[in-house]
Amino acid sequence: MFPKTDLTATKAWTELSAHATEMKKVQMRKLFAEDPERYNKYHLQLENILFDYSKNIVTDKTLTLLQSLAKETQVPEAIKAMFEAEKINATEGRAVLHTALRNFSGKPVMLDGADVMKDVQDVLTRMEVFCNRVHAGEWKGYTGKPIRYIVNIGIGGSDLGPVMVTEALKPYWVPGMQPYFVSNVDGTHIVETLKKVSPEETLFLIASKTFTTQETMTNANTAREWFLEHAKDEAHVAKHFAALSTNEKAVKAFGIDTDNMFGFWDWVGGRYSLWSAIGMSIALTVGFSHFKGLLEGAFAADEHFRTAAFEENIPVIMALIGLWYGNFFDADSEAILPYDQYMHRFAAYFQQGNMESNGKYVDRAGNPVSYQTGPIVWGEPGTNGQHAFYQLIHQGTKLIPCDFIAPAISQNPVSDHHNKLLSNFFAQTEALMNGKTEEEVRAELKAAKLDEAAIKELTPFKVFTGNRPTNSFLVKEITPRTLGTLIALYEHKIFVQGVIWNIYSFDQWGVELGKQLANKILPELGGDEKITSHDSSTNGLINAFKAMRK
Ligand code: F6P
Repeated sequence: MFPKTDLTATKAWTELSAHATEMKKVQMRKLFAEDPERYNKYHLQLENILFDYSKNIVTDKTLTLLQSLAKETQVPEAIKAMFEAEKINATEGRAVLHTALRNFSGKPVMLDGADVMKDVQDVLTRMEVFCNRVHAGEWKGYTGKPIRYIVNIGIGGSDLGPVMVTEALKPYWVPGMQPYFVSNVDGTHIVETLKKVSPEETLFLIASKTFTTQETMTNANTAREWFLEHAKDEAHVAKHFAALSTNEKAVKAFGIDTDNMFGFWDWVGGRYSLWSAIGMSIALTVGFSHFKGLLEGAFAADEHFRTAAFEENIPVIMALIGLWYGNFFDADSEAILPYDQYMHRFAAYFQQGNMESNGKYVDRAGNPVSYQTGPIVWGEPGTNGQHAFYQLIHQGTKLIPCDFIAPAISQNPVSDHHNKLLSNFFAQTEALMNGKTEEEVRAELKAAKLDEAAIKELTPFKVFTGNRPTNSFLVKEITPRTLGTLIALYEHKIFVQGVIWNIYSFDQWGVELGKQLANKILPELGGDEKITSHDSSTNGLINAFKAMRK
């Protein structure tokens, strides 16, 4: 049974509140000095991923209390409920089974009396056959040429995952395949993309769970019109358009042959769908075997999450540490900082993952919560971020817990770039933890031969308070499998936090109001008449827009 526990009524919550008052006085630097075993105690390994959480403002007591909180809020029961296909997405009446999409256990996953694994396997097999035909040049365009360009048209979960993964796995691209991604309804996105492809060699993937999303359907129609301007014959559409969707009826209505439709199910959340047919652009770009590697990596994380004791459970610890800062240290954002240029969309991907999942203020009983829920997630690759926003992380007034991610082996081992990159990766977490004391600053300035007056004047600006928490993920190499594991660890972190916060992580009602109003406003933009149906600001802006565009 999926729990509904008021976390503020738990014993652990009360104890954590008192403990936090003590811990706010603690310096990590001191914790490291006192315990040479700290790193040994506070790091874990899952396959090729080393997770070091020692640079956090935590002690054994903190971790024990946080784990008690997870137990009191019934995280173990919730994990079981998710994997066992309970309809834990209660506001939509759906199960949450993205884990079934990468279930290589050979065991069934029963939903409403039927095993979903047969359908999952069937779609995977069809995807494999399709990819292999495209890569072998057997799937031909309307003039007989093989496919070279993949244009994925989708938005949100039907875009961000495939973009992030194809970018992260660029070294694995099948030679000759070039993917593009169109998401924005701004005509610029599709127009600029169409300039780069040729209709004879392009396969459009219309990626939409619902097949009703305004942006995607608008871009899909534009792509279709553009294609037909060249191909001239509706019959050729079947060679150049495929649909990745749960909505067979709408796919047919759009004019895509259901032979070219790769389905998935309502129990796959949009932001958890890269493992489903939505991953077709990934499979076409990196090859089906690498797509499978990604799924296998995620399965390894699922098994770890499902079976590891909380003290050794990476996603559980990630979740608890995040919650510790959000709920007890007033941290309101988290940065994800990959030291790998190929992973430049990783933070953007988990921005949706986190913020659409846990950006909720109503608990599972329908009442407003009295505590902070999902964090603001952001980030850019290092070292670029160091020259942009790290100043604030080091010396700003906000506490920003950071995740640092780096591969030990570079995909591009050119001269000493990688050692330089990694020296920055190690240096940043050390600097954030240690900081620099007034005495250290004074000694440095003295050594640089500054006089006492100058030392006095400069010292306050050069002090780093330190004690700024980080997690480090050092991975051997970014392979499809490692990436799959890493993504799934972050997914499960979000899940655990949602359970503890007693919110529903798998709906997204918060995106509806804007969509509704945009649909109301769209027809109002057509004519020249003055609009008066909104508040004065909205009316004023709409009318100014109408005047400006004349
Ligand atoms: O932004 C809301 C949302 O529903 C996301 O959850 C989803 O990933 C995205 O829109 C796209 O939806 P669809 O795949 O149905 O086009």
